[in-house]
Amino acid sequence: MLEGIKLVIFDLDGVLTETSNQHFTAWQSMAKKIGVTLAPEFEEKLKGVSRTESLNRILELTDRVFSDDEKQRLQDQKNKHYQSLIQDFDESHLFEGVKPLLKLLKSKGILLALGSASKNGPTLIKALGIDQAFDYIVNPQNLRSKPHPDIFLEPMLHYGLDAKACIGIEDADAGVRAIKAANMFAIGIGNQENLPDADIHFPNILALYETLKSTQ
Ligand code: BG6
Ligand code: MG
Repeated sequence: MLEGIKLVIFDLDGVLTETSNQHFTAWQSMAKKIGVTLAPEFEEKLKGVSRTESLNRILELTDRVFSDDEKQRLQDQKNKHYQSLIQDFDESHLFEGVKPLLKLLKSKGILLALGSASKNGPTLIKALGIDQAFDYIVNPQNLRSKPHPDIFLEPMLHYGLDAKACIGIEDADAGVRAIKAANMFAIGIGNQENLPDADIHFPNILALYETLKSTQ
């Protein structure tokens, strides 16, 4: 799987640590305040999707009209709540297998990039103690959201690489579609049903690490 690979681009939420829950819990409580109930299935629709786009998807569920200022306040409220839910995050919150996987890839001279849609990404990887492992951290601020390929293309272009030399790792359908739109090999953390476009699936990072270790 790693033959000819020079760059691996990692999603963060749901790939390196379990923050999908916290994002969704914060959205649910914000939605409740404006009279919207988010069913558990809605979580899948928000995975990998930027803060603003997530809010827009939630507001589609109500007839109420919100001004730009109100929309900004709702996003800020959600973000504050999300940050409070992850405030005690440290190395122990990393998924099993993350550290050895990063080490294995590094030992092969492969570049590592963080390709998260989250503006909290840099703070979170620092709290998780893995910020030093990444060669490149994508700033999602002025890039189009997943499933557009921008977040994956940026590190590739930065290093002047061909898409064939890059792998993306994602747990969200929007993310996998972004990787495929960038013409890269997509590793899906999940199953065929949730991530139909991924080239290969693993239930979690540990399983990916164990497979790579045994085939090197
Ligand atoms: C993605 C998450 O990684 O980041 C989404 O899967 C989240 O749920 C998005 O909305 C943006 O995150 P943030 O931290 O910038 O609000
Ligand atoms: Mg994710």
